[in-house]
Amino acid sequence: MSALFQPLTLRGVTFKNRIAVSPMSQYRADKGCANNWHMVHLGRFAMGGAGLVFAEATAVEEDGRRTYGDLGLWEDGQIAELARIAKFIETEGAVPGIQLGHAGRKASERRPWHGDAPLSDEDIKARDEQPWQTIAPSAMSYAVGWPTPAEMTDADIKRVIASFGLAAKRAHKAGFKVIEVYAAHGFLVHQFLSPIANKRTDRWGGGAEGRMRFAVEVAKAIRQHWPDDFPLLFRLSATDWVDGGLEIDDTIEIARALAAAGVDMIDCSTGGIGGTERPQRMKIEDGFQVPFSVSVKSGAGVPTMAVGFLRDAAMCEQVIASGKADMVALARELLANPNWPLHAAAKLGVDTDHGMWPPEAGWWLEKRAQLMRKLGLK
Ligand SMILES: Cc1cc2nc3c(=O)[nH]c(=O)nc-3n(C[C@H](O)[C@H](O)[C@H](O)COP(=O)(O)O)c2cc1C
Repeated sequence: MSALFQPLTLRGVTFKNRIAVSPMSQYRADKGCANNWHMVHLGRFAMGGAGLVFAEATAVEEDGRRTYGDLGLWEDGQIAELARIAKFIETEGAVPGIQLGHAGRKASERRPWHGDAPLSDEDIKARDEQPWQTIAPSAMSYAVGWPTPAEMTDADIKRVIASFGLAAKRAHKAGFKVIEVYAAHGFLVHQFLSPIANKRTDRWGGGAEGRMRFAVEVAKAIRQHWPDDFPLLFRLSATDWVDGGLEIDDTIEIARALAAAGVDMIDCSTGGIGGTERPQRMKIEDGFQVPFSVSVKSGAGVPTMAVGFLRDAAMCEQVIASGKADMVALARELLANPNWPLHAAAKLGVDTDHGMWPPEAGWWLEKRAQLMRKLGLK
């Protein structure tokens, strides 16, 4: 029996398998609103058999967008189109989830294909996209050539925390059943957590407890507006991969504090706190972030999601079967093949007759398979 295809229940929500679609920003929104692009992008993953489909990083404030193309939930007008998408995902048998975030000092950026850089005069000329003033825990830029953010005041901090709560309320209205907070990859919540980006000496910085206060308050604010029977996840960068940054032992402490504030699962990613070069300590290979999931799960006693270069069904099966994670999240492999979960089910012997496919496709594919067997075709 496959472990990858065992259902999992978190609070009152059951996922039919352990495969999550990792959030993938499309930079195709208009004024934060979703459209048909997002419907097709996310809908195909639900049709492809994933258990949990995450909508991309969605800004809780307009200035918290990374680019002009980011999704947002900072106002009620952004709910309706997302609601259509969440409903479709659920109708196709997957659980609709959404990632909420604020880009902090990484806001006011170009779309990746316009060049990984902050907005500048060129973007005003090319697309009338004005840069805006960014905010962060400390007035330190993300990398050389990036603008200096304004250090957040106490009022800024309280407002952004409240915005996470209000966005959660809108996510609930839109029909999502899972929220993940984007506390990784150098975005605002991670900026507060990491000593690389947080040099504050007030209660929002200083030692480890001060640096995690913002994340914990975000979790509490969301929990006030998010039903008790719906799961709340945090995506953390389990290590900054740089000396003086977050290490796995810090992350275990953060995970414990978040769990106490009502967080149900930690999605274990890494990196992204600053600089445009990949840190020397970061060595990428298949499943290279899985060990962080193992450490968080055993160290903090919190369920985990593993992510990053997970491409192979047998490897994902092993990660779940050996208890290294409770779920796996895939991004690029699913872009390449949105039906990856259905093919994985066949490879692992869970689906022997296309019975897990939507019948609109599965009925034909099974007939073709039978014919091919009869004709001796491979
Ligand atoms: C197109 C694209 C957009 C992404 N956008 C987000 C995002 O909005 N939020 C996030 O946490 N990670 C984002 N990521 C990172 C992925 O969720 C994932 O963690 C990463 O790609 C590693 O997994 P993979 O090897 O399966 O692709 C993005 C990745 C891709 C390829």
